[in-house]
Amino acid sequence: MKKQTIITFILAIIAFSLPSANATKKQDKEMDRFISSLMKRMTLEEKIGQLSQCSEGYATGPDNSRISRAPLVSEGKIGSMLNVSGATETRKFQEAAMQSRLGIPLIFGMDVIHGFRTGFPIPLGEAASFDLDAIEMSARCSAREAAAAGLHWTFAPMVDVSWDARWGRVMEGAGEDPFYGAKVAAARVRGLQGDNLADTATIMACIKHFGGYGAPMAGKDYNSVDMSMGQFANFYMPPYKAGADAGAATFMSAFNDFNNIPCTGNTFLLRDLLKNKWGFDGFVVSDWGSVEEMINHRYAADHADAALKAITAGLDMEMVSECYTDNLARLVKDGKVSMKLIDDAVRRILEQKYRLGLFDDPYRYCDENREKEIINSRQSHDEARHVAQRSIVLLKNQYDILPLSTDIRKVALVGPLAKSQRDMCGSWTCAYTNTAVTLYDALKSRGLEVDYNDGYDIDSNNISNLGQTLASARNADVVIVAMGERASDTGEMASKGDISISADQQRLVSELVKTGKPVIVLLMCGRPVIFNQVREEAPAILCTWWLGTEAGNAICDVLWGDYNPSGKLPVSFPAHNGQLPLNYQYKSTGRPTAKGGWCTTYRDIPTAPAYPFGYGLSYTTFSYSEPNVTPSAKPGEYAVVTVDVTNTGKRPGEEVVQLYVRDEVASVTRPIKELKGFEKIALAPGETRTVTFPITDAQLGFYDNDMKYRVEKGDFTFMVGTDSSSLKSVKFTL
Ligand code: BGC
Repeated sequence: MKKQTIITFILAIIAFSLPSANATKKQDKEMDRFISSLMKRMTLEEKIGQLSQCSEGYATGPDNSRISRAPLVSEGKIGSMLNVSGATETRKFQEAAMQSRLGIPLIFGMDVIHGFRTGFPIPLGEAASFDLDAIEMSARCSAREAAAAGLHWTFAPMVDVSWDARWGRVMEGAGEDPFYGAKVAAARVRGLQGDNLADTATIMACIKHFGGYGAPMAGKDYNSVDMSMGQFANFYMPPYKAGADAGAATFMSAFNDFNNIPCTGNTFLLRDLLKNKWGFDGFVVSDWGSVEEMINHRYAADHADAALKAITAGLDMEMVSECYTDNLARLVKDGKVSMKLIDDAVRRILEQKYRLGLFDDPYRYCDENREKEIINSRQSHDEARHVAQRSIVLLKNQYDILPLSTDIRKVALVGPLAKSQRDMCGSWTCAYTNTAVTLYDALKSRGLEVDYNDGYDIDSNNISNLGQTLASARNADVVIVAMGERASDTGEMASKGDISISADQQRLVSELVKTGKPVIVLLMCGRPVIFNQVREEAPAILCTWWLGTEAGNAICDVLWGDYNPSGKLPVSFPAHNGQLPLNYQYKSTGRPTAKGGWCTTYRDIPTAPAYPFGYGLSYTTFSYSEPNVTPSAKPGEYAVVTVDVTNTGKRPGEEVVQLYVRDEVASVTRPIKELKGFEKIALAPGETRTVTFPITDAQLGFYDNDMKYRVEKGDFTFMVGTDSSSLKSVKFTL
C-alpha cells in the first residue's frame, strides 16, 4: 500500500471509531496540543497570513484589479483561497503552501450553492420540496463532487429569511419562514459536513450572511437593515442559530449594517451572540471585501480602522480585501489589538484545517482519479433528477389537464427558456454551465414531435412571429409555454423594482389559450413573480424554478405523471408589487378588519397574495379531518395535535401536512399564525394517515424584546391544513 493510501485507511478506521464522546475529547486534546505547539513557532506575520483569504481565477465580487496574491502562498501569508478548484489546480497551490516555512496547508473555498458540476435546483426551488431528506441528499452530492475537485469549503447554505421578492438573492435561500428555514439550514449543514470533516466526501459549510441580509430596505441588494431585536430574534435569527447548532464549521458576516453597525464589525452579532451565547467554535469569514467596505459604510475611517473594528468584533478571516494583511501587525505593535484576539482567530482557523485532516495529508482532496469517477456520475445525475422532481410546484390544473396522456404526439413548444441550457442551471453556477438537459432536449428524447418557436424575445420581451407560433399551436396536441425570467435576473446584484412577468409574455399566453388547445405554462423563475393575467387564463401552471442539470427530464416526469408533483411554495407569491415585502406571518395590528375602511389594507390593490405560503397542488386530492388536541404526559411535551389526512383521488401522491400556531394573547405582539410543524406523507388512493404534531416549547414559545425565549401560559390556536390559508383549527389552553 502507498503511504497516502495507508494514511487514508488508518484515518478511515479512526473515523469509524469516532462517535464516542471520549474519543472526540481525546482527539480535541490532541488537536489542542498540536495547534498550540504549531502556534508557538508562528511569527506574527505568519499568524496574520492565516487570517487572509485571496481569490484566484475569477471574481465573485467587484474586481478591484489586484494582482494575483498566489506568490504570497509560499511565504505563508495566505490562509485560504477562493475560486480555485480542480484536483490539479488545488494541488499546485497546496504545493506552494507546503513550501512555506511551516508548511501550513491552505483551505480552498468556493460558492457551491446548488451543486458543483451536477446542478441541483436553485435553493429556493429545492426548499419547495419540503423534503428534508432530498435537501440533505442534494447538499451531500454537492459536497462529494466539490471535495473530489480539491475543495474543502463551500460558502453555503445561505439561510437569510426574506419577505421581499424584489431582492435578487431570494433565490439562494429557503424562503420566508424562520421555522422551515431553520430545518432546511440544519439539513444542508448535515448534508455538506456529514459526521466527519476529514471524510473526503464532505466539506465545511458556511452559514451566511450573518445577519439579516435578507431584509434590505426596499429590497435593494446590500442596503441597510433596520429591525427591532424582537423582530430579528423571532423571524430572522432561527436559521442562523440552527446552522450553528447543527455544527456548521464557519459563518460569513453580511455586507449590510445591522442595528447601525456593519455586520463585519458587529460585536453583538459575531462575538456576543454567535461565539459567546451560542458557543460557536468555528471561524467567521467576511463577505467579499466587506472589511474594507466598512469605510464606505462610513463606520471605519481607513483600512487600519476597519481591521481594528473587524478583529475586535470577532471576524476571523478576511475575504479578499487586505486590511488585516496591511494593518494588523502594526495594530498589535501599537497595543491597539491584543495578541489574544489574533491567537483566538488563528486557532479557530487552524482547528478547522486539523479537522479537515489537512495536517495529516494536505493533498487528500486532490485526487484526479476520484475527481473523474465522482463528478457528473450517474449517481449524481439520478439524485439531481430526484430532487428536481420534488421541487416543482403545481399552481393550477383546471379540468385535470395534467398529467398529459401518453397518446400525445405533437407538442408546440414556446419560449426561449425551454431551450436555454444556461438558464436551466440557474444563478450561482461557479463550476458548471451549459450542462443542463433542456425541456426541448427532454421532449425530443421522449420521442415526441416537437415544433419549437421562440414566441418572444427573452431580453426585449417583445412577442416575435406571433402568426407562426399560433399556427404551430393549432397544429399540435398540446402547447407548452416556458415563461419567466432569465437566471441572471436573480442572484446577487439582481434586485428588481418590478417583479412582474412582462406584459408581452402574458399576452402571448393569452393568444395561445384562445386557440382552444390545451396550454400548459411552465414558470421558470428564481423568485416569486407576478403574472395575474396568465394566472387567470392559463388552464395549467407549474412553477419549475431553475432545476439544474436534470431540469428537462424532471419537468417531463411531472408533465406525464411519472412523478406526481408534491412541492409547496416556500414563499408567498404577491399579486402586486405594492404588497412587498409580503409574508404570511404578519401581525394582527390594532385595526385588522375593515370598519368603514379604517384597517390595515390598501385602497387600490388586494392584500391577499396570488398564492399563499405553503401552497401547491397534486394530481390527486387530499381531505383533512378536524384536528384534535390532547394533553400529553410526556416530559417536555404539552400536548399532541392529530389530524387524519386522506387521499381522496385516484393516484398515489404526497402531501405536506402543515401545522400553524397562534398565541392568542402574549406579553409582546405575536403573528396571526406561524408554521410550527410539517410532515410530508405519501398516501395511496383511498388511504388515510393520522399525522401527529408534538407541542413543545418550540411550538409555543417566542423571543421577548430582550431576546429571551419564553413560553407563556394562556390560549393558543392550532391550525392544520394544506397551505397557510386553508386551515382547520382547534383551541388549546396551557
Ligand atoms: C457573496 C457571498 C459569496 C462571496 C464569495 C459575495 O459577493 O455575497 O455570498 O460567498 O461573494 O464568492
